[in-house]
Amino acid sequence: MRREIDLETTLAGAPEREAALETSLRPERLADFVGQRELVGHLDIVLGSARSRGQVVDHLLFAGPPGLGKTSLASIVAQEMGATLRVTAGPVLSRPGDVAALLTDLSEGDVLFIDEIHRLTRAVEEVLYSAMEDRRLDVMVGRGPSARSIRLELAPFTLVGATTRTGLVAAPLRDRFGFVGQLDLYDVEELAAIATRSARLLGVELADAGATVIASRSRGTPRIANRLLRRVRDYAAVEQVRKIDEAFAARALDVFGVDVEGLDKLDRRILGLLCGSFSSQPVGLTTLAHALGEETATIEDAYEPYLLRAGLLIRTPRGRLATERAYRHLGLQPPGGGLL
Ligand SMILES: Nc1ncnc2c1ncn2[C@@H]1O[C@H](COP(=O)(O)OP(=O)(O)OP(=O)(O)O)[C@@H](O)[C@H]1O
Ligand SMILES: [Mg+2]
Repeated sequence: MRREIDLETTLAGAPEREAALETSLRPERLADFVGQRELVGHLDIVLGSARSRGQVVDHLLFAGPPGLGKTSLASIVAQEMGATLRVTAGPVLSRPGDVAALLTDLSEGDVLFIDEIHRLTRAVEEVLYSAMEDRRLDVMVGRGPSARSIRLELAPFTLVGATTRTGLVAAPLRDRFGFVGQLDLYDVEELAAIATRSARLLGVELADAGATVIASRSRGTPRIANRLLRRVRDYAAVEQVRKIDEAFAARALDVFGVDVEGLDKLDRRILGLLCGSFSSQPVGLTTLAHALGEETATIEDAYEPYLLRAGLLIRTPRGRLATERAYRHLGLQPPGGGLL
């Protein structure tokens, strides 16, 4: 009899261990970074040119869905420049004083990484404008009538920002980045190369066809490819299998409830609604989010890109619709009339 193991429950027990493993699998140099060829090519030029001029790199912004490599690229930039990486995130920097303290503490060449940069407050963004453009900081000292503004010079530094969507970054902030890199979902070949590299690092024997099975169920996302690889490895340990081939990888992922499209629970709930209660009706994002009890941003940034790419969902001016393929995938009869 086939056992069904819930992926979420299995992960819940060991979040710290999973996070540590994710860090250990992170590519350290640009040459180890698989895929995103155009972006990597441009970045190589930007970094190489700064290095040859002996100057710090221009400010960089990386945008794209979760798990595609934005944080990895930030640490690669620091590594390639032989610079120190300082890490923070938008929601942590709530007051202008927080970012001012960070900026004045930077040394020449440091790379300051601000994750979720679209979540900065307006006041904090304003401090960043002059810091990014003119490398200066105007701070108010004192209160009341004796208050005065003093100007501080900052060491030359590189700001690296990451966001799940460039559209969410305020235009004046976005314009101050010298380079904006958009990350796209990975194709199966690239994900297979990532799974193969990670298997080598984890000491797991993975056949090429096994890597392809993992890749094709990874929703275009390296983080998911690495996660599925670890689950397949766990199952191999339990079943005392040494080499992971195509059939074993497929069986292991079936056991964990990862279907052939790699859809997770929320993906299936989205399609379930579009093919069920809302069948043949375009559904607005807000309505969909409401029905699912999720944030609109979660659906738009983390779920839709893959469903669109996989041809399971389409966006029309009036809302989202499931495709015929989505109905078939759920084992349902598509509505008549040759809708899509
Ligand atoms: N191009 C790549 N080549 C090899 N491994 C990659 C690549 N991109 C991402 N990874 C792997 O995927 C994991 C997730 O990547 P990362 O943390 O950089 O994504 P992210 O875009 O910052 O995600 P989030 O938006 O959730 O912060 C990394 O630990 C790394 O192992
Ligand atoms: Mg990240």
